[in-house]
Amino acid sequence: MTTTAADLQQLARDHLWMHFTRMGGYRDAEVPIIVRGDGCHLEDANGKRYLDALAGLFSVNIGYGFGEEIGQAAQGQMRELPFYTNWSYAHPRAIELAAEVASLAPGDLNRVFFVSGGSEAVESAWKLARQYYLARGGKRLPPELGGAEAETRRDERVGAPLPRKYKAIARRIAYHGTTLGALSINGIPAIRMPFEPLVPEVRHVSNTNRYHRPREETEEQFTRFLLDELEQTILAMGPETVCLVHMEPVQNAGGCFTPPTGYWQGVRELCDRYDILLSADEVITGFGRLGYWFGSERYDIRPDIVCSAKGLSSSYAAIGAVVATDRVMAPFLDGSSMYSHGITFGGHPVMCAIALKNIEIMKREGIVDHVREKQDVFRGRLEQLLELPIVGDVRGTGFFYAVELVKDKEARETFSDDECETLLRGYLSGALFERGLICRADDRGDPVIQISPPLVADEPEFDEIVEKLGDVLEEAWRRIR
Ligand SMILES: Cc1ncc(COP(=O)(O)O)c(C=O)c1O
Repeated sequence: MTTTAADLQQLARDHLWMHFTRMGGYRDAEVPIIVRGDGCHLEDANGKRYLDALAGLFSVNIGYGFGEEIGQAAQGQMRELPFYTNWSYAHPRAIELAAEVASLAPGDLNRVFFVSGGSEAVESAWKLARQYYLARGGKRLPPELGGAEAETRRDERVGAPLPRKYKAIARRIAYHGTTLGALSINGIPAIRMPFEPLVPEVRHVSNTNRYHRPREETEEQFTRFLLDELEQTILAMGPETVCLVHMEPVQNAGGCFTPPTGYWQGVRELCDRYDILLSADEVITGFGRLGYWFGSERYDIRPDIVCSAKGLSSSYAAIGAVVATDRVMAPFLDGSSMYSHGITFGGHPVMCAIALKNIEIMKREGIVDHVREKQDVFRGRLEQLLELPIVGDVRGTGFFYAVELVKDKEARETFSDDECETLLRGYLSGALFERGLICRADDRGDPVIQISPPLVADEPEFDEIVEKLGDVLEEAWRRIR
């Protein structure tokens, strides 16, 4: 295969279909081609270096410098057993990784079902919740909680009860993946719309974006508002039909919405009251991003299901996992009961070997502790950006932040759609890349810059991020005024 930069450009234009990419934009512009990485840095086909302040896609938690060691683990596994399946069989790496993940996950999240990525994890969580209520059978909600017409409809084809609890609740603007089930859970209208009608039935409630709430509202009042809305939504949908509440510990899309005090405890309580499974989407927050192995531990969420992917292998492999509590697993241990779901590559031995090595490296290098120790320094540096007129808010936790851009700081006025187009797509994304900084200018909600570097980043990288981002934002402000 030819590998000159010019050849790669041509081949990319002729054959590669990039994800979520306006391909027409590359008719005249160069396709950015990244050829190697080390630590927190990447290099493109022209030899230019970039600081990757997005860790790939919020996912290369150990950075790019462990390819040698992880490669050896992968090679060893290739020699021993390049593939075997988790369909009715087990193999040592899947067993070891399941045990390892269970030991890191909080509480009795003890059962691990492997998939190939985040969308599949979310998809699998919803299917699991649907089937859990079927498998569990029997127990019904008391009539005062909507269980009155708890008639079980039966599927004549197989003589089995039809799922009654099948609906899900998620939050507005939240991203949960692209396969049809996961997409349906997604709360971003623009990426849902082309594929409608979607999988029934999901409703979306408010996310925890506090920046645009009334200024006089206290944190307690905000929490109350969110929980009341969630409860009203459950009641409107019919609690006896809802099987899943699916949310991220800290919501990424829209810009790092952290939960107000008491929020997660309230969500847990509502899920218990209405007999609904709570699923924590930890595809980003899992494996250290918030300074804990799982964000659920950070916020004491006590989910019934955890979805994980990206950081599980630091994205050195295509692997994800759904982790379930003993309670969720229990009905599937009964007699002939079976979770009717499987994916060829779920628990692929080479992917598992890579994930195991990733976790070993994270432990050995003290990466999760490092995030906890350095998060305040990082936040402090990012908050220097608040001095710029275009920066309205800096929010997040761990190594997971968003900088919200505003037109008028006092009024917290956001940019119009047209301004976002000119500002984010027309200028910022290109200018940041030009300046050698990879982070994401995102307007799935209000316009934000998302910053989520590898978890091995330290003060030199924090400084580089703030310096480069600051320069580009200053120039953006000059252009927009
Ligand atoms: C919170 C969350 N859930 C699910 C997904 C989907 O993961 P994947 O792209 O691996 O399918 C993502 C991807 O960014 C995500 O951020």
